[in-house]
Amino acid sequence: MVNVAILGFGTVGSGVAEVLTGHESSIERKADGLIRLKYILDVRDFPDSPFADRFVKDFAVIENDPEVDIVVETIGGAGVALDFTRRALAAGKSVVTSNKELVATHGYELNQLAREKGVCYLFEASVGGGIPIIRPLSQCLAANEILEIYGILNGTTNYILTRMIRAGLSFDAALAEAQEKGYAERDPSADVDGHDACRKICILAAIAFGRHIYPEQVPTQGIAGVTLADVDYAESAGKKIKLLGRAIRREDGKVCAYVAPHLVDQANPLAGVEDVFNAISVRGDAIGDVMFYGRGAGKLPTASAVVADVIDVARNMGHRKALSWEPGGEDAACGTDALASRWYVRAKAPVDALRSALPGCKLLARREGGGDESACLTGSPLTQGELEQALAGLECRSVIRVLD
Ligand code: HSE
Repeated sequence: MVNVAILGFGTVGSGVAEVLTGHESSIERKADGLIRLKYILDVRDFPDSPFADRFVKDFAVIENDPEVDIVVETIGGAGVALDFTRRALAAGKSVVTSNKELVATHGYELNQLAREKGVCYLFEASVGGGIPIIRPLSQCLAANEILEIYGILNGTTNYILTRMIRAGLSFDAALAEAQEKGYAERDPSADVDGHDACRKICILAAIAFGRHIYPEQVPTQGIAGVTLADVDYAESAGKKIKLLGRAIRREDGKVCAYVAPHLVDQANPLAGVEDVFNAISVRGDAIGDVMFYGRGAGKLPTASAVVADVIDVARNMGHRKALSWEPGGEDAACGTDALASRWYVRAKAPVDALRSALPGCKLLARREGGGDESACLTGSPLTQGELEQALAGLECRSVIRVLD
């Protein structure tokens, strides 16, 4: 029998308890033995919970219990979760987590500690919620040199953008809905400002390109500046606005990773990814393009990925499953300065001013008219620096990359 302790009884932790106990017999078959939920750690009291007899408040109880084989960390953040993860690994317990902040900031160190101790540190649920992506990337696509990964990595912002596009809701109303449904992080700025997607692209880049990429190396822009006017103009150009995380391996070996809203053509499958769904596209030199699609947030989808990791550890007790990548550094990542693309521009300016600033641009029109502003798509790819130079002197209200 394998014993599990869950740290944190929030949305994901309670989902893990539910799935582990609710699917006990099929999990027993797949894990080749019984998996018992022995402890749940939380500072709060849950007297009415069906798991009330398993709650503890002191992590030392779990740390010092030799029967505990696997610790599931669903506390989140890089504070107490880091301390408990280090202590659990040091005590020879495998750790499974959904905590993208911790993996993105300390994943290299924690994975090394797990290797030294001969245990596992697994984090399938940290990217894409219920979508299997870490294991496919590290195992099924292992024969490929990965060239690029990009995708919709945050369910909350995709939900907000979908509701703005489909129902004409304001940004605030759509965010409130996402929070009600339990998709958003405790601090919604982590979703809205792109930090959550940034952490996820860091994790994907480490697995795909073999070096740790830190969040501070990744230029990150969220969706707070996206307006219904931008949604309309994009629609008129046959495009949808999507928040993408992107990591591209350059020829010099550096990784260009960033997070930003993009205009995505309606013919691109990413444009049809709506609500809380995520999609991650991986380009390998042998396989070409592969896309992974599914529910990127929510209690049970995320619990599904956590419990799959628990089963994997349980089935392979004594044989650690190794993920490996090299430490990060200044030479691992580069910014987006050299990345040329077409752009969408909305400015408080007459159409002639846009035309003369951006020769060859395609002007866009909204159903209700543009008022004192005009919008266009640039004709040829430009770097951000070249675009800024061309737009000097114009009052720009929105500038968004086009995914070509
Ligand atoms: N807040 C995250 C999202 C949860 O909306 O995608 C899953 O990581």
